[in-house]
Amino acid sequence: MPSQDQTVYPVTETSKRSTRVNAERYSEMYRLSVEEPDAFWRQEAARLDWMTPFTQVEDTSWDKDDLHIRWFADGTLNASANCIDRHLPERANDTAIIWEGDDPAASSKITYGELHDHVCRLANGLKSLGVKKGDRVTIYMPMIPEAAYAMLACARIGAVHSVVFGGFSPEALAGRINDCASDIVITADEGMRGGRATPLKANVDRAMQHAPGVRQVIVVKRTGGKMKWDPARDVWYHDLIARQPATCPPEPMNAEDPLFILYTSGSTGQPKGVLHTTGGYLVWAAMTHEYVFDYKPGEIYWCTADVGWVTGHTYILYGPLANGATTLMFEGIPTWPGPDRFWQVVDKHQVNIFYTAPTAIRALMREGDGPVQGTSRASLRLLGSVGEPINPEAWTWYHRVVGDGRCPIVDTWWQTETGGVMISPLPGATDLKPGSATKPVFGIMPALVSNEGEPLPDTGAAEGNLIIQRSWPGQARTIYGDHQRFIDTYFATYPGAYFTGDGARRDEDGYWWITGRVDDVLNVSGHRLGTAEIESALVAHTDVAEAAVVGYPHDIKGQGIYCYVTLNAGIIPTEESAQMLRQWVRQEIGPIATPDLVQFAPGLPKTRSGKIMRRILRKIAENEFGNLGDTSTLADPSVVEDLIENRKNR
Ligand code: WTA
Repeated sequence: MPSQDQTVYPVTETSKRSTRVNAERYSEMYRLSVEEPDAFWRQEAARLDWMTPFTQVEDTSWDKDDLHIRWFADGTLNASANCIDRHLPERANDTAIIWEGDDPAASSKITYGELHDHVCRLANGLKSLGVKKGDRVTIYMPMIPEAAYAMLACARIGAVHSVVFGGFSPEALAGRINDCASDIVITADEGMRGGRATPLKANVDRAMQHAPGVRQVIVVKRTGGKMKWDPARDVWYHDLIARQPATCPPEPMNAEDPLFILYTSGSTGQPKGVLHTTGGYLVWAAMTHEYVFDYKPGEIYWCTADVGWVTGHTYILYGPLANGATTLMFEGIPTWPGPDRFWQVVDKHQVNIFYTAPTAIRALMREGDGPVQGTSRASLRLLGSVGEPINPEAWTWYHRVVGDGRCPIVDTWWQTETGGVMISPLPGATDLKPGSATKPVFGIMPALVSNEGEPLPDTGAAEGNLIIQRSWPGQARTIYGDHQRFIDTYFATYPGAYFTGDGARRDEDGYWWITGRVDDVLNVSGHRLGTAEIESALVAHTDVAEAAVVGYPHDIKGQGIYCYVTLNAGIIPTEESAQMLRQWVRQEIGPIATPDLVQFAPGLPKTRSGKIMRRILRKIAENEFGNLGDTSTLADPSVVEDLIENRKNR
């Protein structure tokens, strides 16, 4: 990360006036959170409604022979009741969700009272299909209010939701359905994005060929588009809820009962089902949403993520609704019908807090200041960024143009596994440095270790691999069905600590700068993709003998996908075959995994023991082949010349 921009943006006067947490209070609260965690978390957990109060706060061990993570473990609560019923009847007429359709003429508002009825009807509908506490329900939906109802209805009856992003392919969907043995899928006929329809139900139908365990598919009518119908298996959402009562008592859940599974990519193998539980996750979601966004009742809050990602779970749904906020849910894309769409929506709904990803900011920055300046944005008070490191140029543009120099930016670092924000400024407390996620949230103890596992000094400037030294309520509890993989992935590299997979630098002021993944995970437009997944999609093609995938810097996406492919003997590489393979990966995984560059190579650089030397492939992809490091251990050094000669990123 470039850090040459040394400009510091002090806490604004407006933020100082409006916030509960100023710099002094932050230090005090942070100190309490790490020195007296029991007292701190007892108080923070009191923000939720507990059905049975907990007596014990924390019971965790990161010892790999006895790894367990339990928070508030003898308490019971229900996430849906905390997101809905807790605000009733007082706030029944306040807006819970503002839905903004893909079509700028389509929008609606759902009050907390209405949300209650929708969620209860669906919860009863799910029960009528035999869904019980602990069952897994897969949700494959566009960004429509029914996606939120579906998640909350599961939570209400204690079913575990697994939301699969609507951009994933039928194959990817089937893999995720099978992994958690889910027998119910909730989807829509089609999704609308940027004026184009995605055939979600048809994708589900195709997934069904590989997911024989699914009993029932619930279908929301979004577009009325044509599709196949299996009367034994498919049921219309509107029919299912038609005769259901609008009340459904929330199931008392143990704090450690699962709330949801969310699949995410790792450095090896297939995506893993990260599992979050009820109590700790919800405390973390609500607490971070309130402090990081300095959220105040009555404000309009918009997170542009999709509910298919963790950002959508925590900061469209659970955090804001637990806090009784008005959360905006946007079906469309930033550039349709025009590149001013975000700002038009901000004006239309008078959005106060706006949270998006650097890739969107970079794409809009490319369109110039015009589309932004044609809108008012006077309602905006705070801007946020998430998903990948934000380069100082994009930060500065976001601050100067979108926020008119007036709105602080919270650059929030976190992960699917962390449940919510871990390192971020607090608007009333933290001076900002463009490109830095700044300071840890309450209870979070980040530290740096060298590649060799040596701890680096815990004060002063340093750079290394980012670990977290102590448990926090929002952390994932396991990988569904594979606790050993959970232990091996996060707790074995640096014993006693959680390994994030990210590199980071801490500057002399104690500010944290995330430098990006240090494992084989790519971050493409803020989406996590494992190189191993893309490689296995490539080698699944009959023409492909071997493939290696690496990332390279990309102006808009942050990282692009660079594939080195060796074809089977006798197959002639052509421009068409490269195109065909790009298409193939897109079909196997989904559009977000479409390779940017495909280079055919007669051989890949390997050590004598047959290990592919990715370091060399990365350098060539980054166009830095002048500096390949030690190549003397290669089995056949001549392959490197061919790779350089035919490199694609010139
Ligand atoms: C990256 C998304 C720098 C990081 C919430 C992390 C970031 C991965 C930031 C997790 C940020 C996320 N600055 N990098 N503000 N936020 N990342 O699981 O590499 O989809 O490990 O969670 O995104 O991606 P995930």
